[in-house]
Amino acid sequence: MQIFYGKVALMEYLSSIKTTNSSIGFVPTMGALHKGHQSLMLQSVKENDINVVSIFVNPTQFNNPEDLEKYPRNLEADILKIQEISPDIILFAPTVEDMYEGKTVSQSFDFDGLENKMEGQFRPGHFDGVGTIVKRLFEIVNPTKAYFGEKDFQQVQIVKKMVEKNHLPVTIVVCPIYREINNLAMSSRNERLTLQEREEAGIIHKILIEAKSKFISNSAQKTSEWVKNEFEKNKNFTLEYFEIADEETLSTCNRKYKNKKYRAFIAVFVNNVRLIDTISLN
Ligand code: PAF
Repeated sequence: MQIFYGKVALMEYLSSIKTTNSSIGFVPTMGALHKGHQSLMLQSVKENDINVVSIFVNPTQFNNPEDLEKYPRNLEADILKIQEISPDIILFAPTVEDMYEGKTVSQSFDFDGLENKMEGQFRPGHFDGVGTIVKRLFEIVNPTKAYFGEKDFQQVQIVKKMVEKNHLPVTIVVCPIYREINNLAMSSRNERLTLQEREEAGIIHKILIEAKSKFISNSAQKTSEWVKNEFEKNKNFTLEYFEIADEETLSTCNRKYKNKKYRAFIAVFVNNVRLIDTISLN
């Protein structure tokens, strides 16, 4: 398996193996790989001639230094998980110095307001960090298609907006959420939960499913109140936000319109581990 720790070496290698017709599939990650990431890689491998996975814990997208410090890192285990999918995948695992060249700061983006809601509201600067690193990675890898998980739905909308505004020649492919047996959405952060917490966290998806059925005959506000009550009953979980929003604009649903697509978004703390999930409502 080819592994590159610096952008120049990767770019040189890619240009040496690329022909005019070859497609490049790209899966950007922050490591601590799980089956969800592997499903993105599998789809990329099926659809492209050359496949690149990046592992980079991007400091500028963390607004909480403890979250950055505790973010799980295990390159050796990650390499094995990539090899399980295909030994032909090229791994790009750059250093912070290589990606930021001594200036570890984000560029400022205008994502037409998508960046101010939910994750953006509770994690100030997060999407500037995501935009900065994804744009930089796209410039290095120059992918034909890039694969993202639906769990980070707001991130996907932001990346699509960045691609559109910067006229980047890449197709964003959104892959379904991969869940554990108890339906907890797979996330690298799940590694920080105890076995019991991980088991109990199945309640997040269960509540989303019930919220979906309540939303059929109730307003977004009533549905949200019900969700808040459910979490108040459960002292092991602290709800940060539950939001029903228009899938495209991410604006809060104050009134239901028949022709709009809605989605519920949730962020919950289990101890000090922050988990997010989402579900389409119609
Ligand atoms: O979703 C992630 O893992 C990260 O936000 C990404 C897209 C790799 C950018 O650092």
